[in-house]
Amino acid sequence: MSISPTTSMDECLEVQHRESKPIQYYLVQVKDTWTRKNRKPLKNKNKRLSSAEIHECTEEKGTTWTVVSPIVFTYQVIETQNLLDPSNDVLLTGHVRDPHQLQVLQSNPRRLKRFVVMDETVFKLYGSQVTDYFKSRNVLHRILSLPTTEENKSMEMVIMILNEVHKFGIDRRTEPIIAIGGGVCLDIVGLAASLYRRRTPYIRVPTTLLSYIDASVGAKTGVNFANCKNKLGAYIPPAAALLDRSFLQTLPRRQISNGLAEMLKMALMKHQGLFELLEQHGQYLLNSRFQSSNVDSTPVAAITTKVAIVTMLEELAPNLWEDNLDRLVDFGHLISPELEMKVLPALLHGEAVNIDMAFMVYVARERGLLTEDEKLRIVNCMLALELPVWHGDFTLALVQRALAERLKHSGGLTRMPLPTGLGRAEIFNDTDDETLCHAYERWCDELSSGLR
Ligand SMILES: NC(=O)c1ccc[n+]([C@@H]2O[C@H](COP(=O)([O-])OP(=O)(O)OC[C@H]3O[C@@H](n4cnc5c(N)ncnc54)[C@H](O)[C@@H]3O)[C@@H](O)[C@H]2O)c1
Ligand SMILES: [Zn+2]
Repeated sequence: MSISPTTSMDECLEVQHRESKPIQYYLVQVKDTWTRKNRKPLKNKNKRLSSAEIHECTEEKGTTWTVVSPIVFTYQVIETQNLLDPSNDVLLTGHVRDPHQLQVLQSNPRRLKRFVVMDETVFKLYGSQVTDYFKSRNVLHRILSLPTTEENKSMEMVIMILNEVHKFGIDRRTEPIIAIGGGVCLDIVGLAASLYRRRTPYIRVPTTLLSYIDASVGAKTGVNFANCKNKLGAYIPPAAALLDRSFLQTLPRRQISNGLAEMLKMALMKHQGLFELLEQHGQYLLNSRFQSSNVDSTPVAAITTKVAIVTMLEELAPNLWEDNLDRLVDFGHLISPELEMKVLPALLHGEAVNIDMAFMVYVARERGLLTEDEKLRIVNCMLALELPVWHGDFTLALVQRALAERLKHSGGLTRMPLPTGLGRAEIFNDTDDETLCHAYERWCDELSSGLR
């Protein structure tokens, strides 16, 4: 029996005194009312069955209701060209998947409205194009240009954005907030949108290589807190990430290297072909800033970015909320957050990640997971990508402290991703202190003096 608006008082009392066997209820909607049923109802066009369930267990002390409500997130990662060309609809409607909804939107005479946050540097370079885009599309818009640096990646900036969003006024359902910039900008704006009216859709437009292949692809948002990286945040994906590689042409060379570190991470963990492309064409990718042109008829920029995104999506999509703590994408991220925060702003995120990866390659070698030749190939590839492979502040004490901290937050296991060959990896929980010390010594011996 279920309690519906027409349920009598006697029936209610019967519910009250029912014995303790757990009961699984389905939820059915007829007209506008949802009712629980203890049998799965037959399909019927007048009824709607929810994918949620209520499980009820009554004991002497009282009743426990367990709500099982699967929440599905659907988001799009869209490659496009000429995103800021007014004839390109993607910036305005790329996130709308339902053709009917798109039609409604396009035929609505009401003026579209967009709130945009841009990284200050990106605004200087592309602000006028963004303004022209919205003007020529007759969109009511407000562009907020902010110094979204790692040092400013804070709750204060989130609140500041929210104040402006609130003043401007947006329709939470149909007017997504747009973030245009690097990973810092996208992370801050994503968090602000996730908080505004509990979940306002947002759109990510990455303008750095790192955010193009990494920060844009997943669900995480965040800001730094209590001197810890990304301590406050949410797992709410954007409605869409809109990828246009042409933004990368204005990136400083160091920022390209920075993004290449995250790409190399995916290559080392899962894709030997990607590693070989980076090994062979790393310098070319740096010089061409990932703009389209071919080497020996191979469109290297297009292929490497695509593989990096697909491999990343493969790892993230089944584990969007990181319920499973065994994550290959954590490679290079066990020690690096402590290093990055310690020396801020001396090292970029990808640089700190690369130093961590270089050390872990020595750990893998020490454990016999990599051959000497494989180790050297990886280190040489890192150097060709113009990434640092060693840092004086990456001390053994820092390693031990970071791993102890990880134990606390990872269910008592280190969960250390290590390469077991080129483009292959596994997660290990049994790297002992002696192995770490030997690896650390060898790493310092071979790489501290600028190497080779
Ligand atoms: N959410 C996630 O899943 C995720 C994943 C990886 C990294 N991150 C976060 O991303 C951040 C790092 O991102 P980032 O490396 O993009 O750094 P960033 O956002 O600081 O951008 C790097 C620099 O490049 C400049 N810039 C950006 N686009 C430019 C362009 N097209 N031309 C010229 N200059 C440009 C910026 O002004 C900045 O100075 C970190 O805070 C990290 O925690 C998040
Ligand atoms: Zn990272």
